[in-house]
Amino acid sequence: MRVLVTGGAGYIGSTLVPMLLHKGHEVTVYDNLCWGVYPLLHAAYDTKLRIIQGDVNDRKRIADVMADQDAIIHLAAIVGYPACDSNPDYALGTNISGTKNIADSKSSNQILIFASTGSCYGAIKDIGTEETKLQPLSLYGKSKAQGEEMVLSVGGIALRLATLFGLSPRMRLDLLINDLTFKAFTCKHINFYEGGCRRTFLHVRDAARAFVFALENANSMKGQAYNIGDEKLNMTKLQVVQRIHNLLPDCTFANISSESDKDKRDYEVSFKKISQLGYHHKISIEQGVNEMLKVFPFITIGEQIKYFNV
Ligand SMILES: NC(=O)c1ccc[n+]([C@@H]2O[C@H](COP(=O)([O-])OP(=O)(O)OC[C@H]3O[C@@H](n4cnc5c(N)ncnc54)[C@H](O)[C@@H]3O)[C@@H](O)[C@H]2O)c1
Repeated sequence: MRVLVTGGAGYIGSTLVPMLLHKGHEVTVYDNLCWGVYPLLHAAYDTKLRIIQGDVNDRKRIADVMADQDAIIHLAAIVGYPACDSNPDYALGTNISGTKNIADSKSSNQILIFASTGSCYGAIKDIGTEETKLQPLSLYGKSKAQGEEMVLSVGGIALRLATLFGLSPRMRLDLLINDLTFKAFTCKHINFYEGGCRRTFLHVRDAARAFVFALENANSMKGQAYNIGDEKLNMTKLQVVQRIHNLLPDCTFANISSESDKDKRDYEVSFKKISQLGYHHKISIEQGVNEMLKVFPFITIGEQIKYFNV
């Protein structure tokens, strides 16, 4: 298949692209390369990979690039509430208008898979299922919920991803587990907040596998949203800290009260719908943390900022 991956040079994209190439797909990455092209170097030897530097806000260009594709995996976004809040106009442009450009240009026989997020749920009391009303709180959550609606209205698939963790060629250290592990390793101390909040987690390679899964099961999944994660990785922030602490027993930790999550993420999510189709996670938090601990000795304090999304 010819598969277009917007945002293909990012944290998920640079993990997903080699998987798609390995499956034999012809892959076009369309990305403004705001983090550079380096995350794709390991895949660029493959003759089936094409890289285009472009913006999803460029309506005509993205439509032209989409025209001869069989499937579009739309990852490009301004990701996370801090990044969105630091440039709201560009975030809304990319996450809403950019997604509209793609939804509008989709032809009826093309597959469209959208990276949505659990942040669309906002604060919910019960276990979130795909039927739960979306009540996003942050600009990020709201913009992704609008994007999801546009994608579903044209028969696309929305994957509502848990919070990801783990190593990727485009590393992100602003993600909760990655950030806590880095602090535990380098500072020997973890300050965290809202330890009782329940969150959902998933390894970035398992997330990338979910896009491949959706591509291969698009007929039965089209027009629908799916929570992507696994009940086994539903846990509180404090439980995450304890797991990291088990692997790094020398570090200390403290629950502080001076910060809070703008997305008010405190929820349990059901992953029954996707697991019934046969998708399951493979990588545990311990495995993901251990992988990161192999490289953290070579990232200095201060340098980690360049792996943040703001
Ligand atoms: N990482 C997570 O935990 C997580 C969780 C839920 C959902 N998501 C979603 O997954 C997708 C990918 O996230 P990520 O973690 O890989 O983030 P990322 O920031 O690493 O990747 C985003 C990519 O999009 C590109 N991009 C940004 N604006 C663009 C524009 N206007 N035009 C073209 N390209 C542009 C960037 O250059 C980057 O390569 C996003 O849609 C995000 O909302 C991520």
